Amino acid sequence: MTFTPYRRPLRAAFVGLGRIYDLNVRAYLDNPDVEVVALVDPSEERRDQRQADWPQARTFASVAELAASGLDVDAVEALLPIPLHTDGVVELLGCGWHVNLQKPMCSDLPSARRMLDAADANDRVLRVMENYLFYEPLRRLKAVVESGEIGEVSGYHMKMVGSGRGGWDVPMSSYRWQFEQMKIGRGILVFDDGWHKLATAIWLFGPIAEVRAWIGRTEVRPGITMDAPSTIVWEHANGVRGVWDITMALDLYLRSDYYTNDERWEVTGRKGFARVNRCTGRGVQQPSLEVYIDGEMRGYHALDDDWGSSFRDSGRHWLRWLHTGEGPLLWSGEEALDVLRFALAAYASSAAGGVGVDPASIT
Ligand SMILES: NC(=O)c1ccc[n+]([C@@H]2O[C@H](COP(=O)([O-])OP(=O)(O)OC[C@H]3O[C@@H](n4cnc5c(N)ncnc54)[C@H](O)[C@@H]3O)[C@@H](O)[C@H]2O)c1
Repeated sequence: MTFTPYRRPLRAAFVGLGRIYDLNVRAYLDNPDVEVVALVDPSEERRDQRQADWPQARTFASVAELAASGLDVDAVEALLPIPLHTDGVVELLGCGWHVNLQKPMCSDLPSARRMLDAADANDRVLRVMENYLFYEPLRRLKAVVESGEIGEVSGYHMKMVGSGRGGWDVPMSSYRWQFEQMKIGRGILVFDDGWHKLATAIWLFGPIAEVRAWIGRTEVRPGITMDAPSTIVWEHANGVRGVWDITMALDLYLRSDYYTNDERWEVTGRKGFARVNRCTGRGVQQPSLEVYIDGEMRGYHALDDDWGSSFRDSGRHWLRWLHTGEGPLLWSGEEALDVLRFALAAYASSAAGGVGVDPASIT
């Protein structure tokens, strides 16, 4: 790809103005790297609501209308429902725009290949944003682990509890396409939110050599089944093993400014451990990162542990990258493919009774 960095503010469009716009927009507000010129959503109500943030931007009911308008656009923030990711991204790249896509990239490998081929064919950049890699407690966890202070890594553990009470309102329209995803075996816990956990695993310890999974199901309402309890274990190519347990606690109240997701990461080294106590929600009210070595616990009390800030920083990273073309995209389209393979290997393992599956063997 022949990418030429921009020497002027980018002209950006938001495509999809739903729930997660509220967090993605944080990267664009007060950012001299970018000018928001267009807002696209079939919902007139959403267009009117978001126009208040960008009174100068033009609004459109579809990407086709935006393309036909002749308005100059450099890059798009694609915040579409997952079932629309593949066709949507192919269309956006075909318009000649760089794309910052929300996760999960898509649900299967042929769709991912279509998206990557479209990026190549149009000589545009496709990024699949991963805001967790910008959450300060996780960044600090990675730095602690890499510094060697807890000793050689012995293994690690992630925990996630989906709860049914608390948090911000999620409109029923956002759940509707999630139910479609569940029907094709791409559940909200393992695949949608889980994408982040699998991404942090690769980011922390590198490529995955083998995955074993036991993906369960719980009917929460007649006809609606969540993908928990589930347990996924894996070994990285460097020999480090990870385990992730996913549970559903439907009646548990979780204090959260966002989704009701109680999460932890704990890395054990030969000398000590480092643990991130929360992320999306405000479950454990300890410092967001704690490090234990030689009988002493150190708590990090002043990290930016607002999960929403990770969207701001991930988006700013993208908008800056388009001005430099330097450094990792976190993630490029090809790197996101590794996260997808990891998830697909977990599904393949579970379907085969928990056998070990190498993500590279998924075709
Ligand atoms: N990073 C995270 O932690 C995180 C959290 C939540 C959602 N997401 C992702 O963000 C994306 C959007 O999720 P959401 O919760 O905002 O969904 P949503 O349903 O609230 O919003 C989607 C919006 O897209 C609009 N839309 C539908 N078809 C369209 C089209 N053809 N062109 C333009 N707009 C169209 C809808 O009208 C709606 O306003 C999904 O990919 C989801 O997985 C990521």
